[in-house]
Amino acid sequence: MWLHRNNDLPLWPGFGERGMDIKERRTLARQHKVILDCDPGVDDALALMLALAAPDAVKIIGITTVAGNVPLEHTTRNARGLLALADRLDIPVHAGCARPIMRTTGHRSVMHGGEGLGGVVLDPSAVPLGQAHAVDFIIDQVMAHPGEITLCPIGPMTNVALAMIKEPRLSKNLREIVFMGGAAFCPGNTTAAAEFNIYVDPQAAHVVLSSGVKLTMIGLDVTRKALIDRDLLNALISAQAEMPRLLGGMLASYSAGDPCLHDPCAIAWLINPMLFEGVDAFVEVDCGSGPNFGKTVAHISDRHLAGRKPNCHVVTSVDNVEILQFLRNRLSL
Ligand code: RIB
Ligand code: CA
Repeated sequence: MWLHRNNDLPLWPGFGERGMDIKERRTLARQHKVILDCDPGVDDALALMLALAAPDAVKIIGITTVAGNVPLEHTTRNARGLLALADRLDIPVHAGCARPIMRTTGHRSVMHGGEGLGGVVLDPSAVPLGQAHAVDFIIDQVMAHPGEITLCPIGPMTNVALAMIKEPRLSKNLREIVFMGGAAFCPGNTTAAAEFNIYVDPQAAHVVLSSGVKLTMIGLDVTRKALIDRDLLNALISAQAEMPRLLGGMLASYSAGDPCLHDPCAIAWLINPMLFEGVDAFVEVDCGSGPNFGKTVAHISDRHLAGRKPNCHVVTSVDNVEILQFLRNRLSL
């Protein structure tokens, strides 16, 4: 169980300041074999570039796409275009769900520009679309490599939830899930209560939160403390390589509306969790029809837990200067 000291949250008994015992540190050293489930999306694009720049810590074995920021055909085209741009034709792309579980259409984000990449249209043709549905790709990969695969959803979790429902053994065969989504102790960004990825498909989030898998939640609590700055933007825009340069242009427009490095924080956690602080909690999601629709509620005190065990490590903070320097180092900027 993870635990890091966070000054404004209780320190759980039996753990020190950083909360990690030697077993957890050894786990850290093992490279993550990752299926990145995403809805690119400008910050998804930066998350992918960061993952590709850290092969020592993250091996992307496949990308699955979901409707979220923009419709599925755009998120899928963008994922293929980004891999073509990175010259990573070895990584398969499988399209997933075009809508959330309970709604006929998803909620769109206007932050990412027309087709999801800040107006940049990439050529996807070099990267074929995988024949299998994303849900089947996830099931096939996880069941073929028991205990080895880390799922990293950075969009609505529709694909992940349906994979769990279709293959009940999936949860027991996953290494862990690190997801970008939710807002445990702070307001949402799509409504006052809900963060976008959870708001689009709260029922999917409920399936994942009740799955029993080792979960790490990279929510707005931490991503609002990971703000892009002018130096990083300029370093991207002036980069020699085409991918950082194009992403710099995308981020310049995106960050004017939302400067938070949401999705890159999930990848940064996979690479070096010691950058972050957090707390173990029992997290549930409101799937009702009221003003708290899509809200993630985190219980941490004994009274609030009421006998329930924590189901999720909620990452609550990061040092902004440190995470920006980490990104520049990893991206060689
Ligand atoms: O709330 C931020 C999340 O919603 C990010 O994943 C962003 O890409 C959007 O999907
Ligand atoms: Ca996303």
